Amino acid sequence: MIVAQITDLHVKRKGHLLHHMINTAKSLRRCVERLNELDPRPDVIVATGDLTESGKRKEYARLRDVLERSEIPVYLMPGNHDDRERLRDAFPDHAYLPERDAPLSYVLESFPVRIVALDSTDPGYRGGCFDEQRERWLRARLREAPSRPTFLFMHHPPFLTGIRQLDNDPYRRVEVLGEVVRANPQIQLVGAGHIHRAMQVRWQGTMACTAPSTAHQIVLELREKQPLGMTLEPPGFLLHVWDPDYGTVTHVCATERFKTRWL
Ligand SMILES: [Fe+2]
Repeated sequence: MIVAQITDLHVKRKGHLLHHMINTAKSLRRCVERLNELDPRPDVIVATGDLTESGKRKEYARLRDVLERSEIPVYLMPGNHDDRERLRDAFPDHAYLPERDAPLSYVLESFPVRIVALDSTDPGYRGGCFDEQRERWLRARLREAPSRPTFLFMHHPPFLTGIRQLDNDPYRRVEVLGEVVRANPQIQLVGAGHIHRAMQVRWQGTMACTAPSTAHQIVLELREKQPLGMTLEPPGFLLHVWDPDYGTVTHVCATERFKTRWL
């Protein structure tokens, strides 16, 4: 089974560039075309948030236009730039999205790997949040299938990155989330976004990672007191490949096609 993870799409409405320089919708379109071309093709695409730049209806309409080109089923999750209600309104046919006034968390059961999508957003707050309600929800979902291999997706990474400006907004009750993950060894992978860079870390007995953005990346700046910067390093996505014999392998992929010579 192959799960493609795309993240931080930051789609703006037609004719508008991000920071006056990046056509995020075009960048996403290229990514969708690249995913359609893959052989073998991913079984599913999970989009881990910041689907739009500012959660506006016209941005979701544009997002919908681009995603309609995907020949692979796409499952959506919100990020801190999104608006849950407008996201739900723009995709009424995405029946897996829960009812109003609730975090957009859900489980996909129909694949060999169980996919648990945990909404880590807290409207008005830039960092992640794992409140009591979501704790109850996640514990209950994980209890349902303690021996099925599971990928857990969320927008905010539950680990510190070393890029100081990104670590300034604490993930609320992340220590409780860590306890839940540690107690559920069926979780093979925690896949997040938000950082706009690929990172991997051992966390709570499993592998946690972040995906590159389909649009712009964050500058790798490990010095203290440096401002946060964005860069046009190559956009990309992750492929999480699961096999019953060898387990989970995550590949970091660039959207752009590079010249290849077969050996
Ligand atoms: Fe983002």
